[in-house]
Amino acid sequence: PEVVVLMGGPSAEREVSLSTGRECAKALREAGYSVREVVAEADLPARLAEMRPDVVFNALHGRWGEDGCAQGLLEWLRIPYTHSGVLASALAMDKMRAKAAFRAAGLPVAESRLADKAEIEASHVLAPPYVVKPYNEGSSVGVVLVRDGANSPPKLAPEMPQTLMVETFVPGRELSVAVMGDRALQVTDIVTDGWYDYTAKYAPGGSRHVTPADLPHEITEACLDYALRAHRALGCRGLSRTDIRWDETRGLEGLILLETNTQPGMTPTSLANEQAAACGIAFPDLCRWMVEDASC
Ligand code: DAL
Ligand code: MG
Repeated sequence: PEVVVLMGGPSAEREVSLSTGRECAKALREAGYSVREVVAEADLPARLAEMRPDVVFNALHGRWGEDGCAQGLLEWLRIPYTHSGVLASALAMDKMRAKAAFRAAGLPVAESRLADKAEIEASHVLAPPYVVKPYNEGSSVGVVLVRDGANSPPKLAPEMPQTLMVETFVPGRELSVAVMGDRALQVTDIVTDGWYDYTAKYAPGGSRHVTPADLPHEITEACLDYALRAHRALGCRGLSRTDIRWDETRGLEGLILLETNTQPGMTPTSLANEQAAACGIAFPDLCRWMVEDASC
């Protein structure tokens, strides 16, 4: 079958997507597929309608590609595509609405609310420490941390959106679990010198990953369980990745679910690849499974 790998796009995560797309295209060729790489631009609908591939491997990240828009286009064209469908994609991309779904499923999330830039700059919206972030972007683009004891509220960059999410900062370790269909793969512990920001995420050596994480058994089990339940609560399909924080001073109570990514990064420094490998699933096999799992 012919697979089109969709990548790029206009979101803030364009570069990450190009990296994911190139890795996956290479792996799919190794897996024996005939692959065309398509960098998504404004003419994408017309191009896809003309190409009509057997499957689209959606390697887009962020708005328009991961939030249900591209999925809607592919449904319209009746072209099977990888990862989650329209509703789960849209729900996961909106961090506030995703949290409502997690809460309803009994999963622990941090306190948060939406606020206007002016309100955030005028006084503390929540007690520090807290983070201010776009409610619909990934890869830590635009995340601001207001530290414990900070006496003034943050100054926000002009390019930040008008409405933002303010969320209580959860201290502790940064953990992440990929889900492949009905199976939670592994827990990764992400060790950074400071903040797991854009640079730490994608620069080679920007962070160290421990997979499987060295954690108490009950914490590992809870992380795997939370990731699978989060995937189901949003109605995800195929691959997803759920990010969790763990305040080890609080035991099981200290586990807080941050978010679920419906199109997790598959760059050379990404976690899903590493977790699959730790389960004995080579990268081309992971990509093949995703293509076989595609639907519309
Ligand atoms: N948003 C990036 C791609 C991730 O979660 O992996
Ligand atoms: Mg994310």
